[in-house]
Amino acid sequence: MTKRQTRLFFLGSTLLFAVIFIGLTLDTHRQITALTHAEQLTPEVLAGKRVWHEKNCTNCHTLLGEGAYYAPDLTKIADQRGAAYLSQFLKNPSTFYSEEKDRRLMPNLNLGDEQIRQLIAFLTWVSHIDTDGWPPRPLLVSGTFPGARTVRAGQEAVSNDPVALGEALFRQSPPACSGCHSTAEGVQLVGPSLAGIATRAAERLKDPAYRGQAKTAEEYIRESILAPSLFVVPGATFAAAGRSFMPDNFDRLLQANQIDQLVAYLMTLK
Ligand code: HEC
Ligand code: HEC
Repeated sequence: MTKRQTRLFFLGSTLLFAVIFIGLTLDTHRQITALTHAEQLTPEVLAGKRVWHEKNCTNCHTLLGEGAYYAPDLTKIADQRGAAYLSQFLKNPSTFYSEEKDRRLMPNLNLGDEQIRQLIAFLTWVSHIDTDGWPPRPLLVSGTFPGARTVRAGQEAVSNDPVALGEALFRQSPPACSGCHSTAEGVQLVGPSLAGIATRAAERLKDPAYRGQAKTAEEYIRESILAPSLFVVPGATFAAAGRSFMPDNFDRLLQANQIDQLVAYLMTLK
């Protein structure tokens, strides 16, 4: 190559890659509005983002991988925990965890009710951002959860057996059942352990406080998933003002056959 050719080659390829780079950047910007659902940026969401910064939540947490790595990533937390639980947690985190047992604790940030509503609106908006599957493994608060493992929907191929499908679904996020329920005896996360739930479900029906419509253990489990607050399991940290901390949107989030699979799986936990 002559000197002139080399110069042309250099200029030509620099120009080509500059054009590709700028094109990709513009394409990303073109998609941001759609990927982030910008139309859902209500004043409440924006106020929540301000609270997020004022209270320095990123000093401990990450969102979309940005922030500090002391505490769990919260990108999908609104999906995984639901508003009822989150508002209680943000009011007083130590209700749910103890420093002795879990070795780390979120401080009480003295948030007001309005700030909490705004933060949850913000975190809900964040959880709807299309992150193309990131984070690959949702990080759930797992201090008390040795077998913690959640996989993304569709990541694990299983048979057509409803029980196996139900178990896989139980560990997927969403619905993130395993983030709140252990199936090991006596291990309480946000919700009670579901070890022996098939047997216990039958006993719940005889509880004088039971007000639901279920007549069998299977129906009780189905009802617990679809309408958690109809009967609230006794326990200091399971509900506030009669409203269960379990999300009440599974009838919308899951399809009818997925509910069947979850029930089939839980019915094997005798
Ligand atoms: C000093 C560090 C620190 C700060 C600041 C902090 N957090 Fe946390 N947060 C934690 C830790 C640690 C945990 C995990 C607790 C555990 O594992 O027991 C946590 C957990 C959480 C959870 C998950 C609870 C669950 O059970 O899934 C949410 C939601 C949360 N924090 C929200 C916030 C918000 C919102 C802010 C800002 C207003 C904030 N945090 C500020 C340390 C912090
Ligand atoms: C944010 C945490 C949370 C998530 C996520 C969650 N639960 Fe729950 N669950 C709870 C709490 C708290 C209770 C106890 C209060 C009540 O009775 O609703 C409960 C109760 C239950 C019960 C009744 C247990 C009993 O002993 O009577 C069943 C069954 C159940 N959950 C199944 C599920 C399934 C299946 C999923 C996933 C589709 C799920 N839960 C997701 C928190 C959660």
